[in-house]
Amino acid sequence: MWWWFGWLCIVATVTGSVSGGSVTYDGRSLIIDGRRQLLFSGSIHYPRSTPDMWPSLITKAKQGGLNVIDTYVFWNVHEPQPNKYDFSGRGDIVSFIKQIQAQGLYVCLRIGPFIESEWTYGGLPFWLHDVPGIVFRSDNEPFKFYMKNFTTKIVNMLKSEKLFASQGGPIIISQIENEYQNVEKAFHEKGPPYVIWAAKMATDLETGVPWVMCKQDDAPDPVINTCNGMRCGETFVGPNSPNKPALWTENWTHFYDTYGNITKIRSAEDIAYNVVLFILKKKGSFINYYMYHGGTNFGRTASSFIITAYYDQAPLDEYGLIRQPKWGHLKELHAAIKLCSETLLYGVPSNFSLGVLQEAYVYHEDSGGCAAFLVNANGQKALVKFQNSTYDLPPKSISILPDCKTVAFNTAKVNTQVNTRTRQPTMKFYSADKWEEHREVIPIFEDTSIRSDVLLEQMSTTKDVSDYLWYTASFQQSEGSNSVLRLNSLGHVLRAFVNGVLLGSGHGSKKNPGFTLETNISLNNGVNEISLLSAMVGLPDSGAFLERRAAGLQAVTIRDNNELHDLTKYSWGYQIGMLGERLQIYTEKGSSDVQWTTHEHSYQPLTWYKTNFDSPVGTDPVAINLGSMGKGEAWINGQSIGRYWISYHTPDGSPSQIWYHIPRSFLKPTNNLLVLFEEESGDPLGISVGTVSITKVCGHVSDSNPPPMISWKRQTISQNKEKMHYGRRPKVQLSCPPKRRISKILFASFGSPSGNCEGYAVGSCHSSNSTDVVEKACVGKRRCTIPQSYQKFGGDPCPGIHKDLLIEAQCG
Ligand SMILES: *[C@@H]1O[C@H](CO)[C@@H](O)[C@H](O)[C@H]1NC(C)=O
Ligand SMILES: *[C@@H]1O[C@H](CO)[C@@H](O)[C@H](O)[C@H]1NC(C)=O
Ligand SMILES: *[C@@H]1O[C@H](CO)[C@@H](O)[C@H](O)[C@H]1NC(C)=O
Ligand SMILES: *[C@@H]1O[C@H](CO)[C@@H](O)[C@H](O)[C@H]1NC(C)=O
Ligand SMILES: *[C@@H]1O[C@H](CO)[C@@H](O)[C@H](O)[C@H]1NC(C)=O
Ligand SMILES: *[C@@H]1O[C@H](CO)[C@@H](O)[C@H](O)[C@H]1NC(C)=O
Ligand SMILES: *[C@@H]1O[C@H](CO)[C@@H](O)[C@H](O)[C@H]1NC(C)=O
Repeated sequence: MWWWFGWLCIVATVTGSVSGGSVTYDGRSLIIDGRRQLLFSGSIHYPRSTPDMWPSLITKAKQGGLNVIDTYVFWNVHEPQPNKYDFSGRGDIVSFIKQIQAQGLYVCLRIGPFIESEWTYGGLPFWLHDVPGIVFRSDNEPFKFYMKNFTTKIVNMLKSEKLFASQGGPIIISQIENEYQNVEKAFHEKGPPYVIWAAKMATDLETGVPWVMCKQDDAPDPVINTCNGMRCGETFVGPNSPNKPALWTENWTHFYDTYGNITKIRSAEDIAYNVVLFILKKKGSFINYYMYHGGTNFGRTASSFIITAYYDQAPLDEYGLIRQPKWGHLKELHAAIKLCSETLLYGVPSNFSLGVLQEAYVYHEDSGGCAAFLVNANGQKALVKFQNSTYDLPPKSISILPDCKTVAFNTAKVNTQVNTRTRQPTMKFYSADKWEEHREVIPIFEDTSIRSDVLLEQMSTTKDVSDYLWYTASFQQSEGSNSVLRLNSLGHVLRAFVNGVLLGSGHGSKKNPGFTLETNISLNNGVNEISLLSAMVGLPDSGAFLERRAAGLQAVTIRDNNELHDLTKYSWGYQIGMLGERLQIYTEKGSSDVQWTTHEHSYQPLTWYKTNFDSPVGTDPVAINLGSMGKGEAWINGQSIGRYWISYHTPDGSPSQIWYHIPRSFLKPTNNLLVLFEEESGDPLGISVGTVSITKVCGHVSDSNPPPMISWKRQTISQNKEKMHYGRRPKVQLSCPPKRRISKILFASFGSPSGNCEGYAVGSCHSSNSTDVVEKACVGKRRCTIPQSYQKFGGDPCPGIHKDLLIEAQCG
């Protein structure tokens, strides 16, 4: 992943052209079984959810109008040690692909095997770091050996399961490398040969389906270069050959969040507008939403500073719940475009101006089919004339006319209901006798067995078996004094203990991982034990020369009244990780290996807490509110749900994330073991566990802005003759999630209510029958539809005035 603009992938096909059952391409699109394809794809990463969630995520993606599921392949999940493979549990890629196949969708397989993806070390296994002479992602023999070895392993495994389209399977394209052009220049003459090697290595594997390279303008034939970003409709320079189609491999539905920062939410309207623009302006035929379901960065899988909730704002939220109106608006967009797909793929395109910033794109088929797209690039609404009719185009919007006459969809008109998610605490842990605690021992120099006369780099020392590295030293002082300890760190977090007492903490940020910590200390006469805890919050995932990146302590000085002691070159003792980690005291078995004491309200740093709880009843997703804690990691029945970091606030002063997902499959009905390792002085008594559900739905229509119709019959369109029934009256459609019913009408106004679903009030015109009418029609039902008609409300409350209908309901 990378910023706003573009990732391109290169796709290579097997040589030759179309043959039944195979996948090829031409300058317009991918060709499957001899037909061009307009494909909507969504990224769902199998290790970011649990196997029991996969079927329903795929079903919801299919219902949302997707044809393809896109996933990376996670090398460090599958090959944690050289030649030792793991495809179990969340890593069961074969099972994930087979479930996609079972539901009739295709797969875009992005092998990488460098993937970035806000995943620790960009997906590379850390052991690669220690291969002699290795330079990642370059024309370097050791790297090429391991990259080829893993890519071959994956391709052979999937071939043996017959999962490539050429074998009757669902995989229609594969990706090699990932956004390499971003870093290629840093490798000088070692870059271009690597690209050529990677393309050849991949195509030599003979999968029978095309390969892509994203964001790689010079992808060698037959590999296809593709676009990544938010606005490929504007930024993509295009395929590097007229025989290659325009594919958008990452259309960012949002942007990932980091601790200390939360990004702006991308609206459904903005996504829809850019999707259509890409299809029109760049002849786009494949669009992948990155992410369609982001999921959770469990354990220590997140890269530096990334929160555990990954792309929670995607059309399916972190828990797999449908996020409205995003999911529904894109579903309507896909349906409207699919009505035009034959005409788009086989018709003759033309385009002409309708105004200064308005343009028509029209596609004609010999058979008489016609589809038109009216684009208003202006920030103001526009009235345009097209083929003798007048069309009202909202600001920055595109209207889709699958028959060149009738508007089936406008990207800026959202008809989908808005829903509101609630996380309700059902269980609290405020009683101190529910908790036990265990304090981590703060190591001193004498306890350590790893010694060095310099400050060691953190990653090469820990080999990433833990976030934590202790740097300890014994400092001799001839008389007690007040001094200043100054620490330079390359990242990410530091806690300074002197003689067992925490005297200062500091941390870097996603942008600047390094920082300086300066703290006043008072030293004893004699030996002083300096214990410095350096913590990483995920390995880096991007940039050239990842193997040379450094973290941990860089310099240490102590300043006395008039003397400066440089401890950088000093005798240091090291401890890798916490003792509790080594003993796995977060597991049922490991927890019995240490002494736990009753909770003492002392809130010392570096304390382990444990308790037991029963699962919340029902099937709603479960989450834990850690808002009262500081920073650390949490485990349920021995499985890590990830790092939490409440104390690092966003610029507006709030934590980046307080709720952390506990997958249902981690839970037993009763007596679940919850263990937390708290680095700071968080209060476990404030923790709660709760369920996540959609509790409110809201719909809004206006008669001055009637919603378009999209429920046409496909046949009617392609024949393009029969009268189509559109122009139905606007209506509000509300629907609660499965197993829930509308329990209460929170607001209803037929008239001129102010605001929208985000915030509303009764206006000067209001039918006093509004609530009655809506309650009768909706309460007790899972879904209901209310037409915006005055007959329905027993009369027109204010003749001559434009009327809206706004309803918010509670789902019980
Ligand atoms: C990968 O390399 C190992 C040796 O390190 C070898 O045993 C294995 O066969 C190779 N796998 C593939 C798929 O090439
Ligand atoms: C926070 O996110 C915004 C995007 O929403 C980005 O522009 C900004 O650079 C980020 N700040 C930091 C410190 O990461
Ligand atoms: C890509 O996503 C951005 C927003 O994330 C959206 O504006 C754009 O239309 C999308 N483009 C395509 C081709 O999907
Ligand atoms: C037609 O579309 C192309 C591609 O988007 C654009 O460059 C050109 O300016 C358009 N022509 C008119 C007349 O709008
Ligand atoms: C528009 O009107 C003109 C004049 O009435 C007519 O000749 C033409 O065929 C019409 N065009 C369409 C697309 O209906
Ligand atoms: C350290 O102490 C000095 C004076 O005793 C004070 O001026 C300074 O602000 C203190 N620095 C820190 C980082 O607390
Ligand atoms: C409410 O409905 C009744 C008939 O059912 C009608 O007489 C009355 O005028 C309506 N009130 C408003 C404000 O529309």
